[in-house]
Amino acid sequence: MVSKEDIQKEHIYLKETIRFHNNKYHSEDNPEISDQEFDQLFKQLKELEKKYNFLDISDSPSNFVGAIKLSELSSFEHLIPMLSLDNAFSEEDLSDFEKRNQNKIKEKVNFSYLVEPKIDGVAISLFYKKGILTKAGTRGDGVVGEEVTHNIKTISEIPKSLKNNFPDEIEIRGEIFVELNDFKKINQNFEKRGQKVFANPRNFVAGSIRQLDSKIALERPLKVFCHSVGFISKGNFFNTQKEMISKFKDWGLPVSDEIYFCENLDKVNRQILKMTAKREKLNYEIDGIVVKINDKSLQERLGNSSRSPRWAIAKKFLAEQGETEILSISFQMGRTGVLTPVANLKPVKLGGVTISNATLHNMDEVKRLDVRVGDYVKIIRAGDVIPKVTEVILKKRKPNRKKIMMPSSCPTCSNPVSFFELNTPLLDTSLLSTTNKNCFGFSQFKETLKHFVSRNAMDIDGLGQRTIDLFIEKEFIKSLPDLFKITSENILSLEGFADKSTKKLLESIKSSLKTDLYRFIYALGIKEIGLETSKNLSNFFTSLDKLSKASYDDFISVNDVGEVAASNLEKFFSNEKNLSLIQELVKLGLDLKPPVSVKTSHLTDKTIVITGRLSGYSRETLKFKLEGLGAKISNSVSKKTDFLIAGEDSGSKLQKAKEYDVKIVTDSNLEKFISNS
Ligand code: IVH
Repeated sequence: MVSKEDIQKEHIYLKETIRFHNNKYHSEDNPEISDQEFDQLFKQLKELEKKYNFLDISDSPSNFVGAIKLSELSSFEHLIPMLSLDNAFSEEDLSDFEKRNQNKIKEKVNFSYLVEPKIDGVAISLFYKKGILTKAGTRGDGVVGEEVTHNIKTISEIPKSLKNNFPDEIEIRGEIFVELNDFKKINQNFEKRGQKVFANPRNFVAGSIRQLDSKIALERPLKVFCHSVGFISKGNFFNTQKEMISKFKDWGLPVSDEIYFCENLDKVNRQILKMTAKREKLNYEIDGIVVKINDKSLQERLGNSSRSPRWAIAKKFLAEQGETEILSISFQMGRTGVLTPVANLKPVKLGGVTISNATLHNMDEVKRLDVRVGDYVKIIRAGDVIPKVTEVILKKRKPNRKKIMMPSSCPTCSNPVSFFELNTPLLDTSLLSTTNKNCFGFSQFKETLKHFVSRNAMDIDGLGQRTIDLFIEKEFIKSLPDLFKITSENILSLEGFADKSTKKLLESIKSSLKTDLYRFIYALGIKEIGLETSKNLSNFFTSLDKLSKASYDDFISVNDVGEVAASNLEKFFSNEKNLSLIQELVKLGLDLKPPVSVKTSHLTDKTIVITGRLSGYSRETLKFKLEGLGAKISNSVSKKTDFLIAGEDSGSKLQKAKEYDVKIVTDSNLEKFISNS
């Protein structure tokens, strides 16, 4: 029998998880799970709420459909990936940006720039064929977004057809936003009618354009600023960013009225100061200032890293600071099963937003700050992130203020709180405070392990999420190496396992220890180290031994490893705990294959694009195999593409490939194609 408490716990867990992923998708533009997985969670939440009417749905994400991914919208495959922008926080960062680019170009050039506001809205791609707006899509994960043509066509500012002389096909990129006075009025009206108000203009915009029903967008005063070009068919229409903006105007596309040409970096810095001072007066929200190299040919020579163009950078605003009093300190149970101390503040305005609480991260931080109830503290808020307490103003402390102690029972489930450290490399040690294993069952360690065994990582067949949860809840596994010490008795004690399935699972756990170096690197789950970077690291270092002895300077020389990733790697491999954990895995039989040296084959130097669903391979495995044969895998179809591998449900890429006469390889011909037979 499942108890009422268990159902409530499950409900809270689902609400938290959905909120977390929703935030990753909408606010950070950085989803961690696929749309399908998200939809699955959302479905589970709705079913649970329908079945049990005692659940507290007042704060449930199921109430805010507008802000949730609606899978009913069709997908929109980007012909060229929609990238993000690297950040700069200081003049020094900007000068590093210029130096990096100068080094890459080699011969001395004078970089001139275009400086423009970074609009805090929702990214949009507008596809014009023969000058007619035919399709519009959101960014999504940068490769596939959602088709929202029906809503975009309601925005009167977006021309349905281009004026003057335009390319045959062009994909314009821009940002949909709402003017602040309109947003304020709308929210006031919502409030008057007792409806839910929108937390910020961007949520409002996202909630308007990601709807199935275009009536909603039609009623809302949405605007757009166009700022770049994705796909463009033949024709030389502009040689600089500045010329591009004036072409946009010729074609009737709205652009920001705050775009400035700067002939050198000095002028860029001065312009940034002016624009920063003007920020509060603008009638739309901006979250930084974008600096772009003006010359298109230099842009092309610099190209992109896997995440962002090298020729552009976003100068972010510095955090807003303030001072206030701590009214109380409470503990919140997070998605990860970790209790986080939170300071409840006397409300204070920071950058136009009223702040009434700030995170204290963990007990180490509480100790470090020696923060107490009644203290006056300094707080900062950078962009959209949760405000944090940075300093206690000790001069203002009244006597007899008591130190903060960890609660003995969990605020969510009232069970006793247990103190222990999870022995896993995936955890950011700052989070290793106090974990309540009775609450959500070691959620963070569960996530760690799920990533570790996942398809692109150690690829352990038959080890599903439910089994991992049980392994951890029953305390069979307390650290990663324990996974490889699991016994058949352990497995057999779980419901649903018989002799045969137990044997099979044990075998796949054991055989997973023999794997590719890059898979293991990825499995470690080091922040910022995704699959591509793991492959680059594997190719560069060729062994785990060399990788774990590398320095920051070694890491930074690897293709696509930026400063943050390099310092994460350095931190990870200088942590004794992580090293001994890896040693233990080696003792248990970890046997890593070095990267395959690229063979010369019939596919050497051929550019291949993969699209659609394939029956025999995951995308990643296929990509790896083809790369091993010397092929280059690209995300977008162009005249330079040699082959398109098209699985089921291939969309616009297949169409594009046909137009360019690119050779098409179908699912059924794939094996022959690979083996050249
Ligand atoms: S240029 C990244 N210019 O910021 C490729 N982007 O963090 C070039 N954005 O996805 C983009 N204002 O949606 C560019 N003036 C501006 C922008 C801008 C807002 C958004 C854009 C992009 C995101 C990257």
